[in-house]
Amino acid sequence: MKKKISPQSDYYSKTSLNTTQVSLSTKEEWENHRNKRCNLYIKKLNLPQIIWKNSQVLEIGPSSGENALVWAHESAKFTFIEPCEHLSKQLLANFKTFKLENQIVHLYKKNLEEFNIDKTFDIIIAEGFLYCLENRNEELQKIMSLVSPGGLLIFSTLDPFGNFLEHLKIVYCREISKRNNCTSNSDIMDIAKKIFHEDFKKLSHSRSFEAFAYDTFLSPYHGTSDYWGFEEISNNFENNDFFFYSSWPNYIESDDLTWHKVVLTKSFDDLRIDYRRRIPNFLFGGKGNAMMDLEWTEKRGKRFGELLLKLQSFFVKKINTPDNSDTNCIEELKELKKLTHILWKKDDIKRKTFQEIEELYNALLDNNKKYNGEEMIEIYESSQHIRNTWGMPYHYLVWHKKWS
Ligand SMILES: C[S@@+](CC[C@H](N)C(=O)[O-])C[C@H]1O[C@@H](n2cnc3c(N)ncnc32)[C@H](O)[C@@H]1O
Repeated sequence: MKKKISPQSDYYSKTSLNTTQVSLSTKEEWENHRNKRCNLYIKKLNLPQIIWKNSQVLEIGPSSGENALVWAHESAKFTFIEPCEHLSKQLLANFKTFKLENQIVHLYKKNLEEFNIDKTFDIIIAEGFLYCLENRNEELQKIMSLVSPGGLLIFSTLDPFGNFLEHLKIVYCREISKRNNCTSNSDIMDIAKKIFHEDFKKLSHSRSFEAFAYDTFLSPYHGTSDYWGFEEISNNFENNDFFFYSSWPNYIESDDLTWHKVVLTKSFDDLRIDYRRRIPNFLFGGKGNAMMDLEWTEKRGKRFGELLLKLQSFFVKKINTPDNSDTNCIEELKELKKLTHILWKKDDIKRKTFQEIEELYNALLDNNKKYNGEEMIEIYESSQHIRNTWGMPYHYLVWHKKWS
């Protein structure tokens, strides 16, 4: 049976988009890019630079290869799988410019779903696409089998909690466009710019607002089903040959004061509790230490997470079937508000953010179309806390395969 092909590579191929391109034409740009990648891999994910030395790496979805160049410089040998013709051409050109063509073992121009190989790799990287594959768990299992014993698997995901506010912004922007009768991409881009650009500029993003908007507000598939949280991902690793090695943001509650001779091995259930304790951090981004305490997490954290996901799936329905007015989440929102009042008794900002969520939600839900597009924009512009909160939408996970 023919497998369904990735909606993302299809979108990029049809539009010739490269939403992750990094300009590397000056020494300063190169240093800047390299520093950011080292910060992520070495400092945040605890992966020492030495791992790249003569290593055999499989990178899936490298786009135009700017990230791979950093480790090719450290003598890593790359096999690539890149389905988009325009991106693989740019990748080859980039490697040529940096005189690193010899570090490429092979470039397969196909989707992961169509790829098979009788070989394993020291390191596998899959950043920026795995979550949107229709059979993502199956494809993840496939790449897990391609990691050599002792090797590493590094991939990124769109976390459902970290995306909660961004997703609300996407749905809100699409609803404004609809109420303003805007259907063309350029009209939607204008609306997105009008309401989000100024706040976006305050973040230290590597990409332009337009590139970000093409991957979010304008993407035909984004925000529909591509959130993939640790609870679902980790099921693939249970009873398997992998350790959870690291993540950014860090999911593992620190045990750095435990004597090193006491070897603590966290069960997957413990890891899931650690992850859940950080849901407020994912929601609000790095602002303050919002980690839930263990007792609260065990008592109410699960319900808190469930309610957020229910609200999110309401928004997903809003995107998939915009005219369906049957569903709403009023009860869930009420319960969620109650929980936030208990959880953040002394934290005005977090309680107020939830107040604003409710206001946006009411405008979105307003089936009588009491508010037109302009009024919806005004409501958004006055939601001070939501405007300045983007959450932690994009997570990186590293898994280490045991020696056989
Ligand atoms: C958002 S870009 C990320 C690029 C780069 N990895 C990064 O993180 O900056 C996603 C990349 O995955 C590729 N891609 C999408 N679906 C894929 C699939 N099914 N198999 C392999 N690559 C895919 C896209 O063509 C693109 O190069």
